[in-house]
Amino acid sequence: MTMIAFEHVTFRYGRSSILQDFSLQVERGERLVLLGPSGCGKTTILRLVAGFVAPDSGIVSIEGRPVSIDGRIVVPPEKREVGMVFQDLALWPHMSVEENVGFGLKVKNVPKKERNRRIEEILRLVGLERFGKKRPSDLSGGERQRVALARALVLEPKILLMDEPLSSLDRPLAERLAQEIVRLQRKIGFTLLYVTHLEEEAAIIGTRRLSIQKRTSSN
Ligand SMILES: Nc1ncnc2c1ncn2[C@@H]1O[C@H](COP(=O)(O)OP(=O)(O)OP(=O)(O)O)[C@@H](O)[C@H]1O
Ligand SMILES: [Mg+2]
Repeated sequence: MTMIAFEHVTFRYGRSSILQDFSLQVERGERLVLLGPSGCGKTTILRLVAGFVAPDSGIVSIEGRPVSIDGRIVVPPEKREVGMVFQDLALWPHMSVEENVGFGLKVKNVPKKERNRRIEEILRLVGLERFGKKRPSDLSGGERQRVALARALVLEPKILLMDEPLSSLDRPLAERLAQEIVRLQRKIGFTLLYVTHLEEEAAIIGTRRLSIQKRTSSN
């Protein structure tokens, strides 16, 4: 079953064309790695899936349902069941790990008991069960990365978008965490769109890879 589809998508920022007649299908449970030079539009593709921007023309669909059509966002980001982890993790420094992870559930008015159960479960899954009361500043880079992952996964997204999530970590740790992401994806089954410029990471993560070409002209 097709989880994400781009059909003839055109996207521009002002006068510069980023995507031109771009089509893509991602099947459920795939781990698609997006590669390509800086500025080619990788983050833009993730933003189109999340619904932060709309294509100028063409259609973006999730599970066969158009979510953006020809410049219009039909399904807003909060209704898309899409999770995100970006390079700057944007954890809240004044909140504990538990509070960071539980924040999205709180916003969704999930009752406290259920919230705590899900926070506990996801922290166990990412190996942070003993870190719930700590602040992000008291954690290592790899642990912070796991918090960001837990915060996205606790909302049970159908699609997880990751934009160079491990690039600030040293290589051995990044590769361990990449294996961890694969393990979690196999266990939970979400569809993964993963941006990296590192060959080793792409090889660990991807069931498929897509190289995006940089467009040079502004037409
Ligand atoms: N908000 C914006 N306004 C105008 N131009 C933008 C904006 N965001 C991105 N761009 C431009 O769009 C192009 C594609 O950006 P995008 O962030 O998708 O690239 P990328 O492939 O993710 O690059 P990188 O590997 O450096 O992260 C770039 O040339 C960028 O300068
Ligand atoms: Mg980018």
